[in-house]
Amino acid sequence: MPHDRYAVVGNPISHSKSPLIHQAFARQTGEQLTYERLEGPLEGFADWVTAFFDQGGAGLNVTVPFKQQAWELAQVHSERAATAAAVNTLYRDQNGRLVGDNTDGAGLVRDLTHNHGVSLAGARILLLGAGGAVRGVLTPLLAQAPASLTIANRTPAKAEALCSEFAGKVPLHHRSFAELVGPFDLIINGTSASLQGDLPPLPEGLLAPGASAYDMMYSQNITPFNQWAKAQGAAKTLDGLGMLVEQAAESFRLWRGRLPDTAPVIARLRAGET
Ligand code: ATR
Repeated sequence: MPHDRYAVVGNPISHSKSPLIHQAFARQTGEQLTYERLEGPLEGFADWVTAFFDQGGAGLNVTVPFKQQAWELAQVHSERAATAAAVNTLYRDQNGRLVGDNTDGAGLVRDLTHNHGVSLAGARILLLGAGGAVRGVLTPLLAQAPASLTIANRTPAKAEALCSEFAGKVPLHHRSFAELVGPFDLIINGTSASLQGDLPPLPEGLLAPGASAYDMMYSQNITPFNQWAKAQGAAKTLDGLGMLVEQAAESFRLWRGRLPDTAPVIARLRAGET
């Protein structure tokens, strides 16, 4: 029996840690599979995906810049993928239909609650940013029943649009950075500001006593957002490495029906393994 073939597709893709993560999961669970890193074409992504599955591919993770195209391409969507308008996990169901899911939000929630003991139920949450990364995690975050969720963005109209679209049981608020007034139990940075070594202009005193800060980005050195949060007295400053591994674990579960143990894999990456 040949091993089932999986891959992560993006462009560029050379820095992706997904092969290391999934190969570790496969060793740990004894699942027989291969997992590679593939550079997708900027033109003709849909044909590329079809060819991958027609040639026997079992599943794909999708990353920048293809998550939205993957969402358009999928014939069946999970609810979280439908609302995210982005897909990071593809596979074919028994009827040969292309299924699109999005495991990013589940990865964030599991990292916060399971790995770091941050409870989301009843929490006053502030989300910074209103781009693809934030949209991608909203449905799973809201499913945790926080007391309220505030979205603040440099372009306030985008935060307002997300609040209208995701309106439901949880009270949603939109603010500009300057308008923000705490206290919040958890602040999640979903802007791409950290990538540029930048920090949104946040007012003082946003954090409640014992509050946590989570930067969806990660790097070997503390991010500017987490530096700010530490100076503001955050009890925990967390980065997105655990989210990366947890979203991979959730994809692995969708494909193989088994949720791997993420702790040893997070530890290896934290130790700098590439
Ligand atoms: P992603 O897929 O990473 O979410 P995106 O959809 O381009 O990428 O969204 C980037 C987010 O980071 C946006 O919320 C953006 O704010 P705008 O909507 O005003 O553009 C935010 N962002 C990027 N650089 C920023 C900076 N230097 N300061 C504050 N917010 C920033």
